[in-house]
Amino acid sequence: MAGLEGIRACVFDAYGTLFDVGSPVQKLATEIGEKASGLASLWRQKQLEYTWLRSLMGVHADFWHVTGDALDFSLEALKIEDVGLRDELMTLYLKLDAYPEVAEALKALKAKGKRMAILSNGSPSMLDSAVRTAGLEKYFDMVLSVEDVGIYKPSRRVYRHAMHKLQIQDAPAICFVSANSWDAQAAAQFGFQVVRLARSGGQDDRIPGKPSAVIQSLSELAALVS
Ligand code: LAC
Repeated sequence: MAGLEGIRACVFDAYGTLFDVGSPVQKLATEIGEKASGLASLWRQKQLEYTWLRSLMGVHADFWHVTGDALDFSLEALKIEDVGLRDELMTLYLKLDAYPEVAEALKALKAKGKRMAILSNGSPSMLDSAVRTAGLEKYFDMVLSVEDVGIYKPSRRVYRHAMHKLQIQDAPAICFVSANSWDAQAAAQFGFQVVRLARSGGQDDRIPGKPSAVIQSLSELAALVS
């Protein structure tokens, strides 16, 4: 696979890329029972839909609010009536597991002298909590939230925000890494050099934008970037 050249900073998506959004439901799977996997996928799908809908409607609410709304919808849709479960799941969302290879992969990249940042839909306090719980704060120069922009990915304003904060005028000097295909493709269409992380296979969405590289694990990243 051809490498990415001229990279001055690596910018990472957070949820699904560094942090396992399935981990809260997984931890309570016994309590939830057979509806657990349906709940995990509906919750994530609705969470993303609500970010897109609110962005189109021009009615922003932060990711904590949207994540709670998506969970309420999903619990009701699946007829899961368990008082207390909502709060337990939301609390776990603040302490998501990082995927096992993440810390080592970030360390390897840092050793190459690249600046590193997160650019995420998450609110600053959610991101702060997840990054600290996983012990990843030492790797990042910046943790950037869409809250500074007031609209969600894949708005170009969000990707532009990263350039502005990193003080990089040349979009291809940023390597953007995301496991969310729509985010990876939109960032590529914007002009970043993009690495799509295909943890469990997956395919490109039928939208414009083509990642420069596709990897299966973040461990492959450092060798790609120069
Ligand atoms: C994020 C969402 C896309 O972290 O997972 O921005």
